[in-house]
Amino acid sequence: MIKQMTNSQALLERRKKIVANGVGVFNTATVSKAKGAIITDVDGRELIDFAGGIGVVNAGHCPDSVVKAIQDQAAKYIHTSFNVVTYEPYIELCEKLAEILPHGDHTKAMLVSTGAEAVENAIKIARQATGRQAIIAFTEAYHGRTLMAMTLTSKIDYKLNCGPFAPEVYRLPFPNFYRYHGDKSEDEYVAIELKRLHESAKNVVNPKDVAAIIIEPIQGEGGFNPVPKKYFEGLRAFCDEHGIMLIADEIQSGFGRTGNWASWQSYNVTPDIGTYAKSLGSGMPIAAVLGKANVMDAAAPGTIGGTYIGSPICCAAALATIQLIKDEKLNERGIAIGNAIRSRFEALQKHCPEMGDVRGLGAMMAIEFVKNGDSQQPDGDLCQTIVANCAERGLIIISAGTFKNVIRILCPLVITDEQLNQGLDILEEEIKKATKKNI
Ligand SMILES: Cc1ncc(COP(=O)(O)O)c(C=O)c1O
Repeated sequence: MIKQMTNSQALLERRKKIVANGVGVFNTATVSKAKGAIITDVDGRELIDFAGGIGVVNAGHCPDSVVKAIQDQAAKYIHTSFNVVTYEPYIELCEKLAEILPHGDHTKAMLVSTGAEAVENAIKIARQATGRQAIIAFTEAYHGRTLMAMTLTSKIDYKLNCGPFAPEVYRLPFPNFYRYHGDKSEDEYVAIELKRLHESAKNVVNPKDVAAIIIEPIQGEGGFNPVPKKYFEGLRAFCDEHGIMLIADEIQSGFGRTGNWASWQSYNVTPDIGTYAKSLGSGMPIAAVLGKANVMDAAAPGTIGGTYIGSPICCAAALATIQLIKDEKLNERGIAIGNAIRSRFEALQKHCPEMGDVRGLGAMMAIEFVKNGDSQQPDGDLCQTIVANCAERGLIIISAGTFKNVIRILCPLVITDEQLNQGLDILEEEIKKATKKNI
């Protein structure tokens, strides 16, 4: 008997035939509609979404108020280009962003469409503000796939044979405490890494040539590695000492994910410039660069912009998303979700040395899988097995990390407790199965 393909399989076959191979795919799920934390595939199967379109739908799939804002705006005007004709949704969104994400006493903003574009523009602004060229980025960093953003990105898989890369980019080791602290306390480890930072002024690049240091306060694609608080404070002090712009890339960690509008607010370290995207627009392509007004104004007219900067429809979606995050108290909900995930994972970790580390900030939670409980032996195969088995059981979840050995949770923050527990049950069962634990 010939076995019939499911609609999902047929769609994936069509994808394989026509879509370029380089467009990677994390998962074999398909979608016909999505609402809240549930994706319905093209066979009518309901899937729990722990990936959130890679951290884009913190406010849920298709929230009613966002859908209405998009429809209302589309009926009025779709595009004029903000470089040509001024419209209010752009202005209002900049005002709202400056209110919730103040970068000092006076904050100014610019809007673009994607995270990578925000990063590109942040660098251009920092260079003009300082009159310097060099940029320092970190290992395990991810900042996007356009030329400068890809150059700043660390993982080779994302840039294989894509050079030449942008010049004047220097790299320091990210203070990845779990992987590299050995037997040192956090304070001891941070002291060593800060020494390395200060020595970089002697042996990596002259700080008088450095325009900016860009960092994800909690790395996304790198494996949800949080920067230790004292290191972040030390980085701020180093930037102040040498007149360097500190750029916080909050593209994956923003808008409720860590229990705040941005993770730097949890650290009490204010960057000169911040980049924001993803969950700002609930899936509409919108990104922002925010910064101290004098820094932002250093960019000469015409040097930052573009045809689609801050599309009115995307601005309307972002305004409705911010309102929804406020109304539904999704920052607080992010903390509660994070606590629920952490307590489940930490309980399981006691029986499971393969779960080398359970970490995160707010609902930006991850598990790092290793062999023999050893932080130096990443186990990507185990992680990928668990991810694939979860998918079979209707849980969409994605990995991260240099060695693809980290499971990261990016579920919508509007997820119900029942859906969250259902998803965590599947994940726990698959971890137990794959590590052969009979608990
Ligand atoms: C921290 C960070 N920066 C930049 C980007 C690039 O954003 P985009 O994919 O919208 O260009 C991403 C995307 O995952 C990200 O996580």
